[in-house]
Amino acid sequence: MPARILDPGKSAYHEAARVLQAGGLVAFPTETVYGLGANALDAQAVARIFEAKGRPSDNPVIVHVPEATAARSLARVWTPAADRLARAGWPGPLTLVVEKAESVPDIVTAGGPTVGLRVPDHPVAKALLDAAAVPIAAPSANRSEAVSPTTARHVAASLGPFVDDLIVLDGGACAVGIESTVVDATGERPSVLRPGMFRLEEAVSDAGLGEPGTGGPARSPGQRARHYAPSKPLILVDRGELGIHRRAGDAVLELGDEPEVAARRLYSELHRLSADAGVARILVERPPKGEAWTGIRDRLRRASSG
Ligand code: TXA
Ligand code: MG
Repeated sequence: MPARILDPGKSAYHEAARVLQAGGLVAFPTETVYGLGANALDAQAVARIFEAKGRPSDNPVIVHVPEATAARSLARVWTPAADRLARAGWPGPLTLVVEKAESVPDIVTAGGPTVGLRVPDHPVAKALLDAAAVPIAAPSANRSEAVSPTTARHVAASLGPFVDDLIVLDGGACAVGIESTVVDATGERPSVLRPGMFRLEEAVSDAGLGEPGTGGPARSPGQRARHYAPSKPLILVDRGELGIHRRAGDAVLELGDEPEVAARRLYSELHRLSADAGVARILVERPPKGEAWTGIRDRLRRASSG
């Protein structure tokens, strides 16, 4: 049976919560991208996520919780840095990596000692967390290495064929549009493991933390060079040179000057252009320099064909 897209409401939350409590999978919206959720404390349920996505087992998944107290209970050590960043960035597009509590199954953390925790800022995600009353492990709700979904239809198209009777809660289009900023908060100096629209540099001064450390990209498992890739060649082109490179069958994606707007549009445009039979290649304007664009630059680098 293909995926069922449900309008959120009492009966949808009730059904979704029952599925999660029984060890099944539910896709749901967050402000960043849609997630494919399972009860984070049920190792067998989390294994179904890896199967459905075709995800390598060395790639840990993020655990979603309704508020910071719930996050704390899944951490063995809740550092001052985690505490301050949680206050600055939750609910929101920020994932904090901390040492995991014993209750967190190894499959969630890919066997590692740390867990990524996030309080999402989306009414449907919040209502689902409340109804299910369990922490929800959820990577992006797409097949491994494909572009993350920002609408319920993207999820149904990508995962419908791989999950029996998948329920997708419909929360409309995601407002942030790219995945959360992942920050290592295990030590005194937080560092970015995956950039996103939450800006650590800005937050640390507000939160009274020391200079952020430099987290090498190698420190976040599962951050492969090729990721987030559309099904067609994506070519980055310098601003003003789109005309020079353009061939017949090329679609052009201009990002504009507002990073928030560009992030919100990015994946939905990539999904649209990938599905358009008249498009052979996707030319994307190279994003400007500047910290506000770091997350977008990172995703485009991984999505581009070089
Ligand atoms: O916005 C998001 O973060 C979305 C929504 C659904 O919350 N989720 C998401 O999950 O993007 P996923 O699985 O596609 O990406 C999670 C990434 C992993 O690839 C890994 O790099 C990092 O988060 N991560 C998770 N747990 C980690 C850990 N314990 N240590 C280091 N990195 C971790
Ligand atoms: Mg993903």
